[in-house]
Amino acid sequence: MCGITGYIGCKQATPELLRALKKLEYRGYDSAGIAVLNGSRITVRKMKGALGVLERKIAEEAIPGTLGIGHTRWATHGEPSDTNAHPHTNLSGNIAVIHNGIIENYGVLKEWLQARGVVFRSQTDTEVIVHLIDFYYNAAAIAPIGIPGTDLFLRAVLEALGRIEGSYGLAVIARDFPDRIIAARKDSPLIVGLGDGENLLASDVPALLDHTREVYYLGEREVAVLYRDHVDLFTDQGERVIRPSSHVDWDAQAAEKGGYAHFMLKEIHEQPRAFTDTLRPRLKIADGTPDINFDEIGLDASWADAPRIVITACGTAWHAGMVGKYAFEHFARIPVETDIASEYRYRNPVFNPRDLFIVISQSGETADTLAAMRLAKQKGARILAITNAVGSTLARESDLVLYTWAGPEIGVASTKAFTTQLMCVYLLALKLARLRGLLDGRAYRDALTSLQAIPAQAQKILENTAAIQRFAAGHFNKGKVFFIGRQFDYAVSLESALKLKEISYTHSEAFAAGELKHGPIALVDRDTLVVALATQTALFDKIASNIQETAARGAASLVITWEGEHRFDKIAGEIFTIPRTDDPFSPLLSIIPAQLFAYYCAVLRGNDPDKPRNLAKSVTVE
Ligand code: AGP
Repeated sequence: MCGITGYIGCKQATPELLRALKKLEYRGYDSAGIAVLNGSRITVRKMKGALGVLERKIAEEAIPGTLGIGHTRWATHGEPSDTNAHPHTNLSGNIAVIHNGIIENYGVLKEWLQARGVVFRSQTDTEVIVHLIDFYYNAAAIAPIGIPGTDLFLRAVLEALGRIEGSYGLAVIARDFPDRIIAARKDSPLIVGLGDGENLLASDVPALLDHTREVYYLGEREVAVLYRDHVDLFTDQGERVIRPSSHVDWDAQAAEKGGYAHFMLKEIHEQPRAFTDTLRPRLKIADGTPDINFDEIGLDASWADAPRIVITACGTAWHAGMVGKYAFEHFARIPVETDIASEYRYRNPVFNPRDLFIVISQSGETADTLAAMRLAKQKGARILAITNAVGSTLARESDLVLYTWAGPEIGVASTKAFTTQLMCVYLLALKLARLRGLLDGRAYRDALTSLQAIPAQAQKILENTAAIQRFAAGHFNKGKVFFIGRQFDYAVSLESALKLKEISYTHSEAFAAGELKHGPIALVDRDTLVVALATQTALFDKIASNIQETAARGAASLVITWEGEHRFDKIAGEIFTIPRTDDPFSPLLSIIPAQLFAYYCAVLRGNDPDKPRNLAKSVTVE
C-alpha cells in the first residue's frame, strides 16, 4: 500500500504535497517523492527513506509550481531505493505518474514496451504505466486513436488503463497540459477533494481535511480530471459521470495527534468516546425501555432466520470476527463460521444463499477481504459490511453497511477500530437474539445497560495506564510472550498477540489455553511471559490450571481479570484488573490493557509504534 496525493490551485504545490504526504505516511515509508509542474517543465524529487529525508532535500532547493503530485511508498515490486521511488517519468520527462496498487501483467507489458525501444530505469511495476501513456500519447498525436470526444492526454491515459490488469489508484501530469491532473482508480482507494479555487487528491480523507470536506470518493474504474476551478469525472471508457459530491463529517483535529506521543496512544485513549459514538445512534429508548434501532441498515426479521452466519476479514478485523463467532452463537444461537478472507476466497466454500455474510474491515479496502466479499456476492449472498470508512469499496458494494464510527484511525496497529467493530458485533448479536425471541425484555434491557456502561469502564482502565507501563518496563525484553485464554478470552488473546508482534517485534503467540498441553507448552521456559486473559467465570478453574502449568516451567505471568476477583491472587505473577461487565462483553475491556502493553513495549524497545516495519495500514494488494 502506498499514499498518493495531488494538488492544483493557486498556492505553491510543494508544501501542500508534503503536508498531505505527512498525513499519508502511515501507508508506506520506504521512500517518498513529488513531481511539480512549473509551466514548461516537470521537476521530480524522490528519495529512499522516510518523508523527512525528502523534506530535507527539498528545503535545500525549492521547487516552484502550483500543480503537483506526491507519493509515499510501501515497496511491492523492487527494493526501496531512489530509483524505485515514485513519481516515475517517461524518457523525455514530460509525463509523470504516481501509483498505489499492483500491475499484475506488468511483465508482459514491459516486454511489449521494450520491443518498441523503451528503456526501463526501475524495477517497479508502476513504470510500465508511464511508458504506456507515453506510447499512446505519441500514437494519438500522429493519428487520433481510441475514445472520441476526449483530448490527447485523457485519451492516452484511457488507452493505457485499457491495457492494465491489476489494481491502481494513480495520478498523472503532463508538461503539455499544465492546467490539470488526471487520476484513476481500480481496487485502490482514491478521493478527490473539492476546494475553493483549488482541487486535491489523496488516498485517504485526513490528507484533504486542511482544505475541504467536500469530496468525490472515486468509484471503481472511474477517472477524474482535476482543474483549478472544477473536476470532471469519467468512466474508463471516456463517458461523462455526473453525480453529487459527499460531505466528510470528520474535522481536521480528529486526524491529528492532539498532544499524544503517537497516533496509536491517542487512538487507544479515544476508545471511550468511540464506544459512545458507535452506541448512541443505535440505542433508542421507547417507553422507558432501551432498544437497538438498526433502521439505518433496514435489518428485519428475515435476517434473523439465517441458518448460518459467515464472517470473513483479515488481521485485527478477523479477530473481531472471532469474537463475533462466540457472541452470535451465545446470544442468537445461530451457527457461525469465521474465516480469514485470504483463505475463504480460494476455498470453494459450501454456500447457502440464505446465510448472513458479514464482512469486517476498518478501511473497507483490504484486497483479500473485498475478494472474499465479491465471491460471496457472486454466489448470491446478502452482504452486511462492518466498516469504518464511509465511501469505501466495501461500503459501496455491500447490501447493508454498519459503520463503526471510530473516526480516523491513523496508527497502523488497529485499536479503536477493533473495539468499535466489537461493539457493532454485540449490537447485532443482541438484536438478532431479540428478533429470534431468545432474550426476554429483562435480559435484553440488562445487556443494553451493560453496554451503556462500557465507555465509562474503558475510561477507568485508561486512568490506570501506569500499572501497565510498569509491567511493560519489567518484561519488554522477554524473548517470547504467549497470550492464553478460553472462548471470548481466546479471541482477545489472538488480538493481543498480534498487537505485540506488530509494533514491538517480540515473538508473541496466542493459544487456546486448553491447547497448551498439546504442544506449545514445550516452548515455555524462563524467557517466557504468559499473559492469561481470565474473564470467563465458568472457566476460571481451567485457566488457573493452565497458568500454574506454565509457572511450573519458569514462565512469568500477568493475569487480566475482573476487579474484586481473588481467584488468581496466589498463582499469578502480577494481576491487572478491569471493571466488571457481563462475561461475554469482556473483550470490549480486556483488550485495552493488552493494547497498552504492546504500545509501551514498542516504545521501550525504541520502535515507532505508528510506523511498524514492513507493515502498511491497509493492504490493498494481495
Ligand atoms: C491491525 O493492527 C493490522 N495492522 C491489520 O491486521 C489489519 O487489521 C488488517 O490488515 C485488516 O485491515 P482492514 O480492517 O482495513 O481490512
